Amino acid sequence: MSNNAEFKSKIGVIAATVGSAVGLGNIWRFPAETQANGGAAFLIIYVACVLLLGIPVMLGEFSIGRYGGSDPMTNYQKISPGTKWWMTGLTCILASFMILCFYTVVAGWTFEYMWESLTGALYQPIAGIEPGSAAMFSEKMGEYISGTTGPVVFTMVLIAILIIVLMGGVNKGIERVSNIMMPLLFVILILFCCVSLALPDAGKGVSYLLNPDFSKVTGSTIVSALGQTFFSMSLGMGALMTYAAYYPKNTKLGQTATIVTFTNTGVAVMMGLIIFPAIMSFGLEGGEYAGTALVFVTMPQIFSQMAGTQIWSILFFVLLFFAALTSVISVAEVAVRMMQDRWKLKRLRAVLYVTVPLVVLCPLCALSQGPLNDVQIFGLNIFDLFDTIASEILLPLGALFMCIYIGKAAPKNMMRDELTNYGTIRYRFVGIISFILKWIAPPLIGVILVSQFV
Ligand code: PHE
Repeated sequence: MSNNAEFKSKIGVIAATVGSAVGLGNIWRFPAETQANGGAAFLIIYVACVLLLGIPVMLGEFSIGRYGGSDPMTNYQKISPGTKWWMTGLTCILASFMILCFYTVVAGWTFEYMWESLTGALYQPIAGIEPGSAAMFSEKMGEYISGTTGPVVFTMVLIAILIIVLMGGVNKGIERVSNIMMPLLFVILILFCCVSLALPDAGKGVSYLLNPDFSKVTGSTIVSALGQTFFSMSLGMGALMTYAAYYPKNTKLGQTATIVTFTNTGVAVMMGLIIFPAIMSFGLEGGEYAGTALVFVTMPQIFSQMAGTQIWSILFFVLLFFAALTSVISVAEVAVRMMQDRWKLKRLRAVLYVTVPLVVLCPLCALSQGPLNDVQIFGLNIFDLFDTIASEILLPLGALFMCIYIGKAAPKNMMRDELTNYGTIRYRFVGIISFILKWIAPPLIGVILVSQFV
């Protein structure tokens, strides 16, 4: 059964790809990393990584994806038959499935917070704790995230939503959801930016984000920036490669990568412009900014001091939920497409084969934040184990081998043909992109990989 599904419109291509890239990586990882690594200093290094490494690797994925027209594993096999390069595709698929297991749980939390904001339960005082305090929201976070029932129930809700969208197929599922959710996400984001920047003392937060403190920059800052680049741009695990197989032949890959990258980085910066001014304005500088507490404790604390608490809270968690869902969909699609192409399964069956194991694996990840936290492998709970193996080892490994493949083994003209749509359009950067992929990206990615172990 050949799979000829294609995104129908240019907007659909952009919305789906931006949907994959814009996720919790931009919303809570970026502000937390910025905070830890010297504000604007981190921003500058991150942008450099995005331009130097992110865009070329993204174009590599797009090219292989559209040229091969299948799932990551089949692509390598089709393009270089009889070689072992398909194992690179297998690494991507493994990484994507592991990410799926914990990212679905986190997406479940965002849905849970959206729900608890809607019912108002999130803002109900707890006896003996000061209403609206960090202590109160930490307690709630304990219940919603490290508890037993809530996290599991909402993970299941998320799996159900995922099944419905994926069963809708490429156009009626993925493309339609992205076309609706992405514009709404931007409207909410811009609204929050305006509100946050209008708060008293907002300038302090802005200057925090824009004043580099280079004294905090160390080798590990650069490694963090590289890691953030991969995760945030959805690289190294075949999500964008899989989506590129749905790109029409006339999609301009270079232009698409530029739009997606600028939007993705723009969202991260906007999140910084929302979070830092709000924190400064409400005098919460001393708080805890590790990603999870930042969005689940600090933000509710801020909303509880604003007029219209519940409305802001609902909007914020809708924003998070849209960002998370569109990313989860792209991660899941990797394995779905693989089953359709390799095992010739009908889409409905492929979706079930991918999602049914999640019914067991996701709750294990969810509960490892609480009751199962003691189950540790290599000193990590199940959630962190999946996160670490996938994000820190398999993602860079998948990207590293992809670059080596493009530099050494792929058909010589593949990149040029794909980037110029077989000579019908001009793309000025073919030479430089190929050069980076061959000579610069592999050692840089090697650094990320090795640095995990030293
Ligand atoms: N890019 C997404 C984010 O920023 C996460 C993601 C990683 C999605 C890898 C797909 C593939 O949250």
